[in-house]
Amino acid sequence: MKKTAVAPSNIAFIKYWGKADEALRIPANSSISMNLSGAYTTTTVDFSTAYTKDEVSYIDTSDMDKLTRQREFGYEERKRVIEQLDRIRKSAHINTCAKVMTQNTFPKGTGIASSASGFAALTVAGFAAAEASLNEKELTIFARMGSGSACRSIPDGYVFWEKGDSSDTSYAYSLYPHGYWDLRDIVCVVDLKEKKVSTTEGHQRVETSPLWGWRHRSVDGRIEAMKRALAEKNFTSLGGLIEEDCLEMHHVMQTQAPPLYYWNETTVVLMENATSWRNRGLPVYFTIDAGPNVHLICEEKSEKHVLEQVKTISGIESVIVNKPSAGAHLVESHLY
Ligand code: PMV
Repeated sequence: MKKTAVAPSNIAFIKYWGKADEALRIPANSSISMNLSGAYTTTTVDFSTAYTKDEVSYIDTSDMDKLTRQREFGYEERKRVIEQLDRIRKSAHINTCAKVMTQNTFPKGTGIASSASGFAALTVAGFAAAEASLNEKELTIFARMGSGSACRSIPDGYVFWEKGDSSDTSYAYSLYPHGYWDLRDIVCVVDLKEKKVSTTEGHQRVETSPLWGWRHRSVDGRIEAMKRALAEKNFTSLGGLIEEDCLEMHHVMQTQAPPLYYWNETTVVLMENATSWRNRGLPVYFTIDAGPNVHLICEEKSEKHVLEQVKTISGIESVIVNKPSAGAHLVESHLY
């Protein structure tokens, strides 16, 4: 059967960095995120006896000529997609090959989590195409095995990923639906190149950082404080916690062996400017994932003012304005 799913990327307010179980992708700490309306992946999966091997490709819309091009994934990415197809086949008791085609609305590999939206869309479309009906919790568990943060792209809106202590207890659920609080994530894309070190590799070296133990001890307290900030819709408190957690994760990354530096000059300029805009009365906070792009978090009422400020900074390739989004879901129209 052929099925298509759309899944949003998500921005982590509390970051997942480091795993308790490498193979099952069980994280060292729980995390909190918001789904992004402007950065999503569409994936079509077709299981059919017509295919003699798995065919995996993506539609590249980011080339210079803006021509739509169908491309093959690199070896590692293809392997991870096929491993996820194998998990789906095993669970659904089928052994047919699949054709998978996928398309992102944003550049791949630049720290906007394409693996999150990609594996969420693949999981939802894949299980539907295999005619296996899983509930949301089960889908998040399977998405997590493909790419950890993908589990947070399945539930609606503001999402909590419970770290758990086994595969069945490490899953994601919605804390609040996307309409709960009209926040914005204004993504400033500052570099279109793919990141040099994958997050999979980065997670593995977390314990080499002398700051790792510190983070491990502090993160649960921050999670509780963030849950309160979300419940009270206290933006100042939420924003402060978002920045604190981002900086803590990057300090861990930068002190790992070998160190991981994901920022570039424009990243730092934006971080400094966000702080000074805030000091001048504009409530905006930054966060950064495993890439140089800066996510500026603000309330809807400040969006216009933040965009005006962003225009004054050079070195920004493009800007993606995101609202909180629904989670992954099936759609009627297919990519092929
Ligand atoms: O899901 P992964 O393995 O790509 O890890 C994501 C890690 C960060 O994006 C840096 C943080 C997060 O929680 O999304």
